[in-house]
Amino acid sequence: MTTRRHVLEWLAAAPVLSACSGGGADLPDPAAAWRDPGAAEADVRRFALAHAILAPNPHNTQPWLVDLDDGDAITLYCDLDRRLPFTDPLDRQITIGCGCFLELYRMAAGMGGYWPTIEFFPEGEPTPRLDTRPIARVTLGPQQQQPNGYPTSAQITRRRTNRKPFEARVPDATMLDELVNAVVGMGEEYTGAMFWTNEAARVAQARDLVWRAWDRELRTEGAAAETYEWLRFGREEIARHLDGLSIDAPGIGIFRILGQLDREELIDPNSEANKTAARDWRELAMTSPAFVWLTSNGDTPGARLNAGRAYARFALAASDAGLAIHPWSQALQEYQEMADLYAEMRTFLAPPEGDTVQMLVRIGYGQDVPPSPRRGVDAILRPPSP
Ligand SMILES: Cc1cc2nc3c(=O)[nH]c(=O)nc-3n(C[C@H](O)[C@H](O)[C@H](O)COP(=O)(O)O)c2cc1C
Repeated sequence: MTTRRHVLEWLAAAPVLSACSGGGADLPDPAAAWRDPGAAEADVRRFALAHAILAPNPHNTQPWLVDLDDGDAITLYCDLDRRLPFTDPLDRQITIGCGCFLELYRMAAGMGGYWPTIEFFPEGEPTPRLDTRPIARVTLGPQQQQPNGYPTSAQITRRRTNRKPFEARVPDATMLDELVNAVVGMGEEYTGAMFWTNEAARVAQARDLVWRAWDRELRTEGAAAETYEWLRFGREEIARHLDGLSIDAPGIGIFRILGQLDREELIDPNSEANKTAARDWRELAMTSPAFVWLTSNGDTPGARLNAGRAYARFALAASDAGLAIHPWSQALQEYQEMADLYAEMRTFLAPPEGDTVQMLVRIGYGQDVPPSPRRGVDAILRPPSP
């Protein structure tokens, strides 16, 4: 029998859970986009887009809008309504998610022998936040005679954000260095750096820091309210939206109807639901065997896009190596209530002078998790202008 306690435990894993089964007779399958993406597409750009939409992105808002231009190019825009203004006031993380999208697009085009050129912000870099101008224009260019692709592109459909507790087994230095190489292999386009620690004392400090930042976010009303907007409860809601953070468990609909998982409950840090969530998220932090962080030199919109491209490469390489990863971004966020922990994070991670820490991730070995929902390619295409 499903008990309230049982449901709260599922909820704790909140953004842990992702639906992968069908959403009901008339509803789309939230995991459909992950199976053989673009298989039926004759247009290479649509094939590449079917892969790009599988990119990691904050809260799974999928903030992408695309114009299929004449010829062999696409233009990427940010869907400005899919940003996270409270926790991401500079659109830094949303821009990283766009960088992830571009890297997967490029890799998927590479499967067909194309080596696209990516022009960032062709109408100028927006500042201080993203605006209606394009984020990038990507041109396929000529097909190469001997395509050799990217070795990790097969991981595009296997990569996951893993919000399960990790095993005590610690990834070793050789493995972690190989992940650094996957990112550094981007060459001059990426001017940041990647670091890791698996050393017990440093890991203990990092666990404590990420945990306190998570707890701070829970206790910051604006942040909790923003996350609430992107939670999707139960199969039907997940299948209707195909975005956001899925929370599914048998009986969850009943608790929603009873008002025990409503907005008030979920933005109250002292509610039973959130006490249970906090206990389980603390366990996720405290079982982290190692951490990786990625920086960019400077923090311009272009540097953020390249950080996103680097993160995508890292995520695929980790998946290829059988490692589970899970970003913990709270201490990197630029809102006022996080300012002291942000400063503590910088002191602790000690990025090179002039660098911004763009991603902080726990890494280890964990059980498989299902894919998160995606809306499909048609949902991100802008209607052609009249
Ligand atoms: C810039 C960025 C920041 C993220 N921060 C977090 C985070 O703090 N906590 C978390 O659980 N997931 C975080 N994620 C992971 C996203 O929530 C995840 O990519 C999204 O839900 C889609 O799921 P998927 O990666 O399994 O496809 C982050 C992803 C990106 C790109």
